[in-house]
Amino acid sequence: MKITFDARTLRDSSGAVGRHYDGPFAEACRLLGGRRRQYHMGLFTGAENLEAAQAALTEEVARRLPFGAGTELLDIGCGVGGPACQLARDHGWSITGITVSTHQADEARYAVSDLGTGLGRVTVQHADAHFMPFTTSAFDGAYAIESLLHCTDKERVLAECRRVLRPGGRVVIWDLIARADLPADAFPLANLFGFQDYRDVCDRNGFEILLAQDRGEEIIPLSLSAFARLLDSEKHRATLHCCHQLARAFGAGHLGYALFQLEKRP
Ligand SMILES: C[S@@+](CC[C@H](N)C(=O)[O-])C[C@H]1O[C@@H](n2cnc3c(N)ncnc32)[C@H](O)[C@@H]1O
Repeated sequence: MKITFDARTLRDSSGAVGRHYDGPFAEACRLLGGRRRQYHMGLFTGAENLEAAQAALTEEVARRLPFGAGTELLDIGCGVGGPACQLARDHGWSITGITVSTHQADEARYAVSDLGTGLGRVTVQHADAHFMPFTTSAFDGAYAIESLLHCTDKERVLAECRRVLRPGGRVVIWDLIARADLPADAFPLANLFGFQDYRDVCDRNGFEILLAQDRGEEIIPLSLSAFARLLDSEKHRATLHCCHQLARAFGAGHLGYALFQLEKRP
C-alpha cells in the first residue's frame, strides 16, 4: 500500500537520523566500521574476520553492477566513505556519496585521502535521499548499503533514484528487512519493509527486479556477534542494546537481510 508523507515530515525524520550519526552513534560506528570505514554487517562464507566480511558484502555490489571504469555511480547513504573508496579503487568508478550526517560527510571526505581511491574518484555531499540534489539522468547506477532502512518514504527515494539514473541504469540494495510483522517502533530510527513490500515499491517505481534474495543467515548472526565483541558494555550501551534486539528479532524469525538488483525500465 502506498503511503505519502509531506516534505516537512521527511526532512524532520532524516534530520533525526543525521543527528544520531553525528552524535551518539559516531564513536560506535568508528569501532564497528574498522580501518576500512565500512559501517555495515559482513557477508560471511567461512571463518573470515568482520573486516573481510564487510569488504565482501561491498564487493557483492560490484558483482551486480556491470560497469567499467569511469562510470558515474551514486552511493545512497555513504556513511564514512569506506564502501565508496573500496569500489572506486577496485573498479575505477567515479562515485558521489550522500549522507544526512554532517559529521559523516566530513569523515568520508577524510577517508578519500586516508584510504585512497586509485584511478577512481569519490566526492561526498550532505544530502537527503528523499530530495536528491542531482539533475535528471546524472548517474549510470546507484547502490545503497544498509541505508534505506532509515528512509521514511522508500516510495519517494526509489522515485528519486529512478529520476537521477540514465536509461537502463542499475541499482543494488542491501538492507535489513522484516520477515514477520514487527511493531513500527521495533528499532529506533528505522522503518523496515517486508521482502514483498520492498519488491512492490521497486516495481511501482519503474524498476525491473533482476534479483531478490534474503541472505540473512549468511550475514546477521556472525555480524552481530562480531559487533558485540567490539563494543564496551558501559560506553556503548545503546548500540549494544540495539545489537541484542536485532539478534533477538533474527532468532525469532522476524529479521532478514535482502539483496536487490534492479534495472530502470524504459
Ligand atoms: C548503517 S549506515 C551505512 C553506511 C554505509 N552505507 C556503509 O555501508 O558503510 C546508514 C547510512 O545511511 C545514511 N542515511 C540514512 N537516511 C538517509 C537519507 N534519507 N538520505 C541519505 N542518507 C541517509 C546515514 O546518514 C548513514 O550514512
